[in-house]
Amino acid sequence: MRIYSLLNRIAAFYSSHGLVPTIRRVKLAAKRALFANRMVVFYCDLPKQVSPPDELPNSLKVERVITYAQLNPEDLQNLTSFWNPKQAHRNIRERFAQGASLWLIRSADKLAGYGWSLQGRTIAPYFLQLGENDVQLFDFYTFPKFRGRATHWFLTSHILQTLAAEGRARAFGDTAEWNKAQLSSFKVTPFRRLGLARCFTVLGHTLVFWCANEPSEQIRKDRERRNEAPTTARLYEQ
Ligand SMILES: CC(C)(COP(=O)(O)OP(=O)(O)OC[C@H]1O[C@@H](n2cnc3c(N)ncnc32)[C@H](O)[C@@H]1OP(=O)(O)O)[C@@H](O)C(=O)NCCC(=O)NCCS
Repeated sequence: MRIYSLLNRIAAFYSSHGLVPTIRRVKLAAKRALFANRMVVFYCDLPKQVSPPDELPNSLKVERVITYAQLNPEDLQNLTSFWNPKQAHRNIRERFAQGASLWLIRSADKLAGYGWSLQGRTIAPYFLQLGENDVQLFDFYTFPKFRGRATHWFLTSHILQTLAAEGRARAFGDTAEWNKAQLSSFKVTPFRRLGLARCFTVLGHTLVFWCANEPSEQIRKDRERRNEAPTTARLYEQ
């Protein structure tokens, strides 16, 4: 992340949360940067997702937005108000300009979460080169009130199935190794772990270091967890 952008984020956090939470947040970020700075990379072979998109529970709806103009003001407000609004607006505009899709998931008409996808390239320097029919999934978020109810799972699975139905080849996603919530959720989606990696950009060159491939024990545990997914998903039907 660029120094300017980092300082901007700290300043925005300070102005909305105050000094003590900012010090705590910076300490946590430093700890993660020093001791848990690898990314877990996932892939999904889309042609193997042969089934059409699953029916979502009645209360859930997924909507795909492909231009800034298509975003309604209320959604835009929700998407940008919980974080640095200026930076969030800039990101949204830049992503649409690059051809990315924004996927919104609603629960009983309330915005519950979102995620982005981009075909044929990545939104920033990445661990590998994408083919023109590959898709990157990135920046997923579930609003706090809707967490722990498999919202992320429903959204990711729906996106993967939709991309498969469109004839896309492979999808890639990644998350930080400290992000237990997303790791746990990824495990029940059709994504498979590719490995652990670090990625740096120095003077315009991207350096990627693969740290570990997937151990077989982890693959077995993930498979067991995937079988439990329908139980978690029932939370939405209660
Ligand atoms: C990561 C994230 C998208 C997961 O979304 P989600 O819809 O809550 O996902 P799930 O419901 O599948 O829950 C995933 C795990 O988080 C746990 N969890 C996280 N926050 C929770 C909360 N407030 N209440 C209950 N469970 C919570 C769940 O228990 C679950 O773990 P488990 O399956 O081992 O029990 C969400 O936590 C989030 O938006 N985090 C902040 C942004 C982020 O980290 N995005 C990813 C990187 S871009």
